[in-house]
Amino acid sequence: MPIFDGQTHWILETAHTGYALGLNQTGRLTHRYWGARLPFPDDYPAAPNPPGWASFNGADHLTPEEFPAYAGAKYGDPCLKVTFADGVRDCVLVFEAAEVRNETLIIHLRDDHYPLKVSLHYIVHASADLIERRVSITHTGSAADGDIRIERALSAVWHLPAHAPDEHYRLTYLSGRWLDEFHIQREPLTPGVKLIESRRLTTSHHANPWVALDRGGADEDQGAVWFTALAWSGNWRIGAEVTDFGQTRLLSGVNDWDFAWKLTPGQTFDSPASFGGYTGDGFGAASRILHRYIREAVVPHRHALRQVLYNSWEATTFDVGAASQIRLAEIAALMGVELFVMDDGWFHGRNHDHAGLGDWWPDEQKFPEGLAPLIDRVNALGMDFGLWIEPEMVNPDSDLYRAHPDWVIHFPTRNRTEMRNQLILNLGRVDVQDALIARIDDLLNHNNIAFIKWDMNRNVSEPGWPDAAPQGDHGDQRELWVRYVEGVYRVWGTLRERHPDVIWQSCSGGGGRADMGILRLADQIWTSDNTEATARLSIQEGFSLAYPAATMEAWVTDAERDRVPLAFRFHVSMCGVLGIGGNLPHWSNAERAEATHWVSMYKEIRPVVQMGVQYRLRSAQESPFSAVLYVSDDQAEAVLFAFRVYLPEPCILPPIYLRGLQAEAQYVVEGISGVRSGQALMQVGLTIALGNLESTLRRIQRV
Ligand code: DGJ
Repeated sequence: MPIFDGQTHWILETAHTGYALGLNQTGRLTHRYWGARLPFPDDYPAAPNPPGWASFNGADHLTPEEFPAYAGAKYGDPCLKVTFADGVRDCVLVFEAAEVRNETLIIHLRDDHYPLKVSLHYIVHASADLIERRVSITHTGSAADGDIRIERALSAVWHLPAHAPDEHYRLTYLSGRWLDEFHIQREPLTPGVKLIESRRLTTSHHANPWVALDRGGADEDQGAVWFTALAWSGNWRIGAEVTDFGQTRLLSGVNDWDFAWKLTPGQTFDSPASFGGYTGDGFGAASRILHRYIREAVVPHRHALRQVLYNSWEATTFDVGAASQIRLAEIAALMGVELFVMDDGWFHGRNHDHAGLGDWWPDEQKFPEGLAPLIDRVNALGMDFGLWIEPEMVNPDSDLYRAHPDWVIHFPTRNRTEMRNQLILNLGRVDVQDALIARIDDLLNHNNIAFIKWDMNRNVSEPGWPDAAPQGDHGDQRELWVRYVEGVYRVWGTLRERHPDVIWQSCSGGGGRADMGILRLADQIWTSDNTEATARLSIQEGFSLAYPAATMEAWVTDAERDRVPLAFRFHVSMCGVLGIGGNLPHWSNAERAEATHWVSMYKEIRPVVQMGVQYRLRSAQESPFSAVLYVSDDQAEAVLFAFRVYLPEPCILPPIYLRGLQAEAQYVVEGISGVRSGQALMQVGLTIALGNLESTLRRIQRV
């Protein structure tokens, strides 16, 4: 039973973890425990009743509440902050009721004076070892009560076990920028709040809504790691707080920066989901928990192998046309590519990045007979056809903008800052959502499109919504931050429902929109616009902390083609969902033949790479000699990749210690004579000679 319901105290158990909460002696909903699963219910600590400490720190401040609202003498970061119609900004939540529905515990709290109800949802994903938390905030009153303004509504606070005053948790998070995403950052957490966030309207390249905390020096294979990921593709924040009394907490949810939400009587505000997990087996295990859950429970096409794709962007940029695309498609088909994706440049007026966005029909000059001749040819070559779109954007030089200049996010008295010559359509508006749904639906209805790459190439500026002015129907303009994202989800979700077989890719200039929210809609993520293989090693490793290989699109392109061998470039891309993005007519026959070989090999190993269990054996971010291993669920097969970037000679490469094999079973490693036990491969390791810019792919089979 994953939920133990003691009426006033509750225990949520997954396969290996336990999470306990309960009412304390004053009736307050408090946190009791989060960590390894304990054998008996009585093992879980009781709800805490910390006494106050001097006149400066009352019990309010010291009690670890499950969902602290700003009220009373609390000075820690709250989850909820509201202003009632009479100006009162103190929200006193009391327990009302609890219910257990299948795998979900719902605890209802209410304000003890005002018509506000807060329902905390805890969904126990027992076999996945994850707990999902969401919050619904409802105005239960009538018009006479006036509106309630929400100023912060986070999804969850995750309390970490207490530690000695001289110990610190260590925070791990991902940061970066365009072309340079997913750097793994590690730092000790000291008193105060370390805030990781996006204020860019979307998830961002700059930080990713995933963090982990460890204690006592966890590494890939061992040690206690607590982690959380937020399923939200807009402004978000994760605050890692150490209070002045040494309590460590992770607060996660929609960013409250510039945010406000007018809650009218009867209305409910629903937060996005925050996932939390714990493992005693290090960062590798923490990643694998998320990998499996995302693959098996989040993405739309679960258990489906991803196709080898070709993407035209780096070969033809805006200079697309049926003849040039068919030329690429013919070569790609010979190499074994399964999906041909025409990127930017195909639609009305799109000859450069100054025009066209918004006018989503084939350019009359480039495709006088529409897309059908190209798609038919691609299909005749045995490949599916995919198309690039950037629905949220508009160029001022477009028919759409000329017809609806008011549809973009803007302040009427301010400049409309263009980035890449484009403005952002206000997807908070239902009329804009409907127009986009109609246009893209039409495109999908009239063309045999199997795959859509959904791009987003700028971040917000001047976040205005003039006709949502304070007295308007939409309440406060600052609702934009949430309504926009809900609009993206509605447009994308509606199209997905109407075209369930289409595979969608999330791209935002590379990895700018990678999160568990968008992965409910998109099966794949374009990891980075940086396609240079040695840089990709690091980017891909960072991505893998939270997201599985089956979602990580990786193309072999012409970046550093003269320096980095084709095999190396293929090996890097074969660590995820293999794609090709080079200018194929310029590839020699030898290169094409080699590419054909790797594509064919990838098709053989992809069940293990895409659906297997990933082990980061040697970090590319820490060492020029890196390795990653994928092991099939039944441990019968594995695929090892190792890469040496640059190390001065003479140099002795250390052994690569494999992981995840059956200790007693025997394995054959490609290229190495004899048979070794799993235990030997894990304890003695493999010594593989590699020169600079050399790589290896070794298939490993159980005998
Ligand atoms: C940014 C993407 O990341 C690229 O792959 C490409 O699709 C361009 N946009 C096209 O404008």
